[in-house]
Amino acid sequence: MDHGHHDSHAHESNGHASHGSGGHGHASTFSVRILRQDGPGEASYWERHVIERENDMNVISVLQRVAAKAENAEGHKVAPVAWDCNCLEEVCGACTMVINGRTRQACSALVDRLLADNPGEIELRPMSKFPVLRDLMVNRARLFRSLQKVKAWIPVDGYYNMGPGPRQSPEEQQRAYPLSECMSCGCCLEACPQFNKVELTRRDGETEEQFRAREKQEFDRNFVGAHAISQAMLFNAHPTGQMNAGERLDALTAEGGIQMCGNAQNCVAVCPKSIPLTTSIARAGRAATLHAVKKFFDR
Ligand code: SF4
Ligand code: SF4
Ligand code: FES
Repeated sequence: MDHGHHDSHAHESNGHASHGSGGHGHASTFSVRILRQDGPGEASYWERHVIERENDMNVISVLQRVAAKAENAEGHKVAPVAWDCNCLEEVCGACTMVINGRTRQACSALVDRLLADNPGEIELRPMSKFPVLRDLMVNRARLFRSLQKVKAWIPVDGYYNMGPGPRQSPEEQQRAYPLSECMSCGCCLEACPQFNKVELTRRDGETEEQFRAREKQEFDRNFVGAHAISQAMLFNAHPTGQMNAGERLDALTAEGGIQMCGNAQNCVAVCPKSIPLTTSIARAGRAATLHAVKKFFDR
């Protein structure tokens, strides 16, 4: 991972203006361009912030400085920039955003590397395939609805001790493990030409329940996404999960299903966990065909 670019000291002498304070450490600053949006459906606008460079910053620590300062590059007070994060170690996917044009996790995006590639400035945008809630926070509800649609879990009908589960061979485990690393980040969906943004607003007189039901219908009509196809394959390969394999394949072949995938392979190229998504998609395609043939003769 580390390609030896901890060259931060070099920047102390590069003549950038300092904001003066801070005693030891860096004298340099860098600018952060953020695509902001005050609320769902509102117009977006760019805003520039100037941040003092510190050792070993990641984009989350940059955003913390931006929020704490709440002042743009021109020195005007602005509302703190909103973003999402949880785990801070690239396993929850919550901090996914577009950083210098690449969709990735803010917590694992290191400032030293970003500035080495693009000196002086970091650009932050929210993902474009999900509705913006505010600034860099997006609503990934559709991503989770897809997981629900394909039943990406193993049903457990109680909490009593059911004894040891069925055995899995080391080969099966090795095949399953990479798929289990999916963190529902959405990078694969951001890159997919078949996954287009769905953003609905609540109509006058519509209750919350009615709105959610309409939203779910709309989500289900649209492409389910590579992440969900891959998770369906993970659970269909599991000895216990196989019990519901037919239901998962039904979901994958319903409207918005695997038939919409154009095999552009963008998803597999961008997955931060290097999940073999196109292998999962090919496997799902074959399984879906067999399932359809079997259903035809079972009628
Ligand atoms: S292979 Fe399918 S799921 Fe992946 S990016 Fe292409 S269209 Fe989307
Ligand atoms: S498959 Fe990869 S890119 Fe897609 S949601 Fe999972 S971890 Fe993210
Ligand atoms: S905070 Fe969880 S992936 Fe970045």
